[in-house]
Amino acid sequence: MTTYKGIVLAGGTGTRLYPLTLSMSKQLLPIYDKPMIFYPISVLMLAGIREILIVTTTESLSDFKNLLGTGEDFGVEFTYVVQQKPEGIAQALILAEPFLAGDHCCLILGDNIFYGQNFIERLNQATKVEQGCTVFAYHVTDPERFGVVEMDENQNVLSIEEKPVHPKSNYALTGLYFFDNSSIAIAKSLTPSKRGELEITDVIRHYLSTQNLKVSSLGRGFAWLDTGTYDSLLDAGQFVETVEKRQGLKIACLEEIAYRMGWLSKEQIVARAKLFKQNAYGKYLLDTVGYPIFSCNR
Ligand code: G1P
Repeated sequence: MTTYKGIVLAGGTGTRLYPLTLSMSKQLLPIYDKPMIFYPISVLMLAGIREILIVTTTESLSDFKNLLGTGEDFGVEFTYVVQQKPEGIAQALILAEPFLAGDHCCLILGDNIFYGQNFIERLNQATKVEQGCTVFAYHVTDPERFGVVEMDENQNVLSIEEKPVHPKSNYALTGLYFFDNSSIAIAKSLTPSKRGELEITDVIRHYLSTQNLKVSSLGRGFAWLDTGTYDSLLDAGQFVETVEKRQGLKIACLEEIAYRMGWLSKEQIVARAKLFKQNAYGKYLLDTVGYPIFSCNR
């Protein structure tokens, strides 16, 4: 059976968000009620992935370890590796080689937020793929800021370009990629782009050239949120706040996902909720397992 392991890329210097990120990793900034990295981790967990590699910088390694630990609190297993310099997303695949140990991977960028119905089905389809690469396309107003995929009316891919000045379509490639293990050799064969990075779009283009690329479109009603600017960071937080307050259900609550997946017991959730005292997150966890809230004081 094909095994997919997870990789979250949480490196980079976050210069576009200075001074917010002068002394703190971008992926630790808050998106409403939880750190940004919870959102991509939740995607991996929803895909059923429990072995997760966090790729980060020397400066931020201890912060991520303090937040996430071994993964025990979330019913998963975290491993950490340092990316010395921000030399491209594809470099994460090379750094992940010992961790993957021959397995396939789901690579997700630590600043990408996905939310929408039937997403789990899409993820499940991708983790069944035994050979090749699955990526996700999303219609945006500003494709020049992203990797861009051009498709014909039958969804056949015609081209893939990284941040083109004149985009051939409005479809951005999101920061969620499912790769088979040959992606490591492909990443190793790349030469850095003009911006000095090993580009993930070059890896994807390689799969396109061997007809091993599948593009899945995330349509209307699906939210893929960006956190790259002050405004989009705030918008993402407000989006999460609006949905959570309206529904009374949290987005990317890792403990809840672990409980619903059967990876954490009721007792473990209750213990975790006590750590959060009686704040809204703690109460939500207790509600999730149907535990009377007043018991929290005992
Ligand atoms: C990266 C990728 C790009 C992708 C984007 C998604 O861009 O290079 O192809 O569309 O993530 O967030 P970067 O974050 O390096 O600007």
